[in-house]
Order: sequence, then structure tokens, then C-alpha cells
Amino acid sequence: MKSFKNRDFLTLMDYSQDEILRIIDLSDELKEKRVNGESHAYLQGKTVAMIFEKHSTRTRLSFQAGAAHLGLQAFYMDPSTMQISRGESLMDTAKTIDRYADALVIRTHEQAIVNDFAKYMDRPVINALTNESHPCQLLADIQHVREKMGRLKNLKIGYVGDVWNMAHSWGIVSSIFGWDMMYALPKKYEHLFWPRAKEFIEKTNKETGGSFTMTQNLKEAITDADVVVGITFVSMTRGATEEDMKKKLAEFMPYQINTEVMSWAKDDGIFMHCLPAHRGEEVTNEVIDGPQSFVFDQAENRMHTEKALMALLLGGIE
Ligand code: CP
Ligand code: NVA
Repeated sequence: MKSFKNRDFLTLMDYSQDEILRIIDLSDELKEKRVNGESHAYLQGKTVAMIFEKHSTRTRLSFQAGAAHLGLQAFYMDPSTMQISRGESLMDTAKTIDRYADALVIRTHEQAIVNDFAKYMDRPVINALTNESHPCQLLADIQHVREKMGRLKNLKIGYVGDVWNMAHSWGIVSSIFGWDMMYALPKKYEHLFWPRAKEFIEKTNKETGGSFTMTQNLKEAITDADVVVGITFVSMTRGATEEDMKKKLAEFMPYQINTEVMSWAKDDGIFMHCLPAHRGEEVTNEVIDGPQSFVFDQAENRMHTEKALMALLLGGIE
């Protein structure tokens, strides 16, 4: 396995199944250490810079809390008060951060922006969400699936929600693990799937036996699913007008996950949601608060998996 030290974490397409499992296994260990109150300050004296150009509750807090547990100091920088908002170039900003911090965690718009930071920085760049991908969320989700389902093999995933970062990231992970991935969505949104991810998924599925299907038939996507994934119908989308959002919401409403929809999944199937949830839109209260949903356990895993990721990329653990 390639060393993790100093690697970027921009998309899960850059990581093999074994490498992902190494992160998840370490995350399990760190989770246990935290439960047992054992110190795990593997990154004492190091620093991580954090730039968030979009809203966040879980990602920002889980990175900051996780950094503290590792003995790592996290600095949050509000982009609106940085010189980049007054026209300083991305390159100059990246090269400056590289001199102070041991890593950068960044949530931004286009994937090209995180790629550019990675190009200009020697230190690791961690993608905390772009329009195209949300790889940190998927680390937590993989750990959650293994905890709740007891396995990472032979899974059917039924995905309902926006064709955006989470759709692409679930597709990438499903192909790496050989899962059957079914998306239910209005036809007109199918073509929005990130072409780079689609190409990777098609190629990887041929090697792992996974499948990728898009359907307008919600029942087909959810029937016998081990995991039902609900995602907001309207993501944090730059440029969308209020009118566009209302229209999109109306088009997606027939795909809401309610109790009847959830009953089509396997009896031991689980509901997952990265949060924030828009209760009454993509999911009803009965489902998200119901017996097949553990969304706060899922959210907790953001912290454990990000700690494992930082410990490996920043060289605290080989
Ligand atoms: N799931 C997730 O990324 O949540 P936040 O937007 O609150 O960070
Ligand atoms: N698809 C959502 C994910 C939020 C964590 C968005 O980008 O708004």
C-alpha cells in the first residue's frame, strides 16, 4: 500500500479499497480510544488551516473537535475576511498557507479549486466538500454501514436526492466496493452526473462487479435495499434562483422517503442521511427518527474518520 504521508484527499477516486479500509480500521481504533478515555494525541504541535466557503455544522465542528483530540491546532479562516476576497490569487494564498500550516481543509465550490490548492501546496489538502464530491462524508458513511450492517459486501444502495456531490461520492464508493447502486430521480437530472466520476464508476464496476443504475421508479430503487440514502433535493447551489429551487423541489417531492417507501427496503435495511435534513422534503420525521435510522451515529463518525485521515496524512501514524 502506498504511504499516506503528505497525500492529498481530494476524491475517493484517488484511493484504493485497501487504503479506504485502512482509514476505516484506524477510525474504529480511534473511536474506541475516545470511548475508553485513552490519549491519542498523535499530532501534537502540528496545525491545520480550515477554509469554508459554504455553510457547515458537522464538517467544521468534527474537524475542529477531532484536531483537538489529536493535539493538533485547527485554525478556521473566514474567506470573507481573507485577502483572497479582495483579489489575492489562489496561488499566492495556497503558497502562504503552505508555510504556516501542516495541512489545509477546504470546503468550496468547484473541484478545480481544491485541485488548484493541491497543485500549489506541498502539504496535504483535504476536500471538505465541493460541488462535485464529499469524500470525508463517505468515509464516515462506510464506517457506519460496516457498524450497522456488519459487512461491506453484497449491498444494494437506494439513493434518493440531488445529483451533486453526494450522488457522485456514493457512486464512486459503491463501485470501489462492488455494490449495486440505484438512483431514483426525475429523468431530466440524470445527465448532471459528474462525467469524471461516471467514467471511473463504469470502469471500476467492471473490475468489482458493482452496478450503477438510474431510474424514475422509486420502488425499483428502494426494493430490497440494504441501505436507503436520503439527500437534500436542493443542495447548496451557487447561482440557483429562489424560483429554480421551488421548481426543483416540486419535481423531486414524489421521491420523498416516507414510511411506506422505507417498508420496500430489506427488513434489516437502514436509512442514512449526511444531514442537514430537510424534514418533510426528502424524508419524513417518521423515517429519520424511526427505528431504521441512526443519523447521529452516522454524523459522529465524521469525527472519527477525519481523525484517522489526518493522523495518516500528517504522518502521526504510519
Ligand atoms: N454532512 C455535512 O457535511 O454537514 P455540514 O454541511 O453541516 O458540514
Ligand atoms: N448535497 C449537499 C450536501 C450537504 C452536506 C449540498 O451540497 O448542499
